[in-house]
Amino acid sequence: MTDYSSLNASLRSLVSGVPHRTANLANAAALLWQELDSINWAGFYLLEDDLLILGPFQGKPACIEIPLGKGVCGTAAEKNETVVVPNVHEFPGHIACDSASESEIVIPIHDGGNLFGVLDIDSPERHRFRDEDKTGLEEFVRVLEDMLNNSENNAP
Ligand code: SME
Repeated sequence: MTDYSSLNASLRSLVSGVPHRTANLANAAALLWQELDSINWAGFYLLEDDLLILGPFQGKPACIEIPLGKGVCGTAAEKNETVVVPNVHEFPGHIACDSASESEIVIPIHDGGNLFGVLDIDSPERHRFRDEDKTGLEEFVRVLEDMLNNSENNAP
C-alpha cells in the first residue's frame, strides 16, 4: 500500500519554489513511477482547445491526441470527475496505448477553476486502484493545482 501522505509531501517539496510547469509535471510523473507498485504508465494529458495532448509521462510511448469525451481520459475530462476503471476491457471506448494495461485511473486537473488536463495512471493488474488510491491521488493532484495556481509558476 502506498504511503500517500509521504508521497504527497515529497511532491510538495519537489515542486516548491520551482517556476516551471513542465519541469514540475515531469518530476511528478517520475515520482509516481518510482513510488507506485504495479503500474505501467503514469503521466499527463494537457487540454489545448478541445483536445487532450500528451504531456510529461513515464512508460511506453503513448497516443498524442485524445478528444474530449473519448477514452477514459476524455471521459474524465468531459465529466470533470475522477474515473476509476477496474477492468479496461469492460470500458467502452478505452484507448489502448499499451496492451499490458488492465486497469486505469484518470483525475482531472484544474488551473484557477478551469480544466488544465488530466493525470492518467495505468496498471497491468485488474482492480489496482482502490478507494485509498483515489483519495491519495486526488490529493496528489491538489498539490499540482496549488503549484499551477501559484503566480510564480507561469513559465512553461
Ligand atoms: N487509456 C487511455 C489512453 C491513454 S494511455 O492509457 C496512456 C484512455 O482510454 O483514455
